[in-house]
Amino acid sequence: MDKRIGFIGLGIMGKPMARNLLKAGYPLTVYSRGRSAVEALMADGATGARSSQDVAERSDIVITMVTDTPDVRQVILEEKGVLAGIGAGGTIIDMSTISPSATREIAEVVKAKGVHFLDAPVSGGEGGAIAGTLSIMVGGEAEVFNDCLPIFQALGKNIIHVGGTGTGQLTKLCNQIAVAVTNLAMSEALVFAAKSGVNLEKMHQAISGGAAGSWQLTNLAPRIFQRDFAPGFMVKLQQKDLRLVLQEADRSHLALPATSLVHSLFNALETRGAGNEGTQALVKVLEQLAGVEVKG
Ligand SMILES: NC(=O)c1ccc[n+]([C@@H]2O[C@H](COP(=O)([O-])OP(=O)(O)OC[C@H]3O[C@@H](n4cnc5c(N)ncnc54)[C@H](OP(=O)(O)O)[C@@H]3O)[C@@H](O)[C@H]2O)c1
Repeated sequence: MDKRIGFIGLGIMGKPMARNLLKAGYPLTVYSRGRSAVEALMADGATGARSSQDVAERSDIVITMVTDTPDVRQVILEEKGVLAGIGAGGTIIDMSTISPSATREIAEVVKAKGVHFLDAPVSGGEGGAIAGTLSIMVGGEAEVFNDCLPIFQALGKNIIHVGGTGTGQLTKLCNQIAVAVTNLAMSEALVFAAKSGVNLEKMHQAISGGAAGSWQLTNLAPRIFQRDFAPGFMVKLQQKDLRLVLQEADRSHLALPATSLVHSLFNALETRGAGNEGTQALVKVLEQLAGVEVKG
């Protein structure tokens, strides 16, 4: 654990991921705009920094886990950003979910300064981040991936080097298509069950272990039964990802009818002010159409 790691973005995902790096014994410097998250990590043994540049000056490898494409661009490339502080030969790993084409552009700028770059978005939600069981899909040079593998192993279980720069993000978008469309399928099944009066818990037990089983059915359906719409993954972030998918698809004239439909239904939810709720809130749109509530 001789590498000094920097971590930027201590939100729902970033905070537990940073904690797991501390648990694995890495010297860690952290920065996030909200000071309370930085102080929480300092109480666990991390060093707090005042800017992204400050993090990079104290680190060999800097991980970014922020919200969207403009945020990654800003955190890495701004005047007081990571690239201003990291030494040549250092590595930047972006674990946020952002645009694959912007990723390639950012990587070009980074590599021109003699700094390595990996895109390494994750799947597995807040629970996976806390448990250190994330799936991690990585784009970039194989040698850099191999050097960083022990770090990924502190954060996740299913760690795949997919290919060159940007392929991690492209894979993550595949993941998001499957996640969002499965969420809609699950929500329809729950609304159908509620409308037909079948016992929700029994139905859930009966179908979870069969061919309908999914992460969504296991993790999101019980929250819906409890009417718990607190975010593990926010609607507005899911929408950001579906927008990225649809932009990429549009470029190659690719029809993604199911993804377009889910994106549109999430729009209806956002219009009602639910952007900060968890993605399980999708069921509310269908409930409104059906005139029922899915309550356990
Ligand atoms: N939640 C999930 O289940 C999940 C799963 C897989 C992947 N992801 C992806 O992981 C990334 C983070 O998600 P999250 O759920 O952890 O989001 P989040 O809770 O909103 O956290 C984002 C963090 O990034 C910081 N940040 C954003 N823009 C910044 C900027 N320009 N400069 C400095 N800090 C900035 C935020 O700081 P402030 O708090 O000060 O705004 C916050 O600490 C997103 O790309 C998301 O799509 C999320």
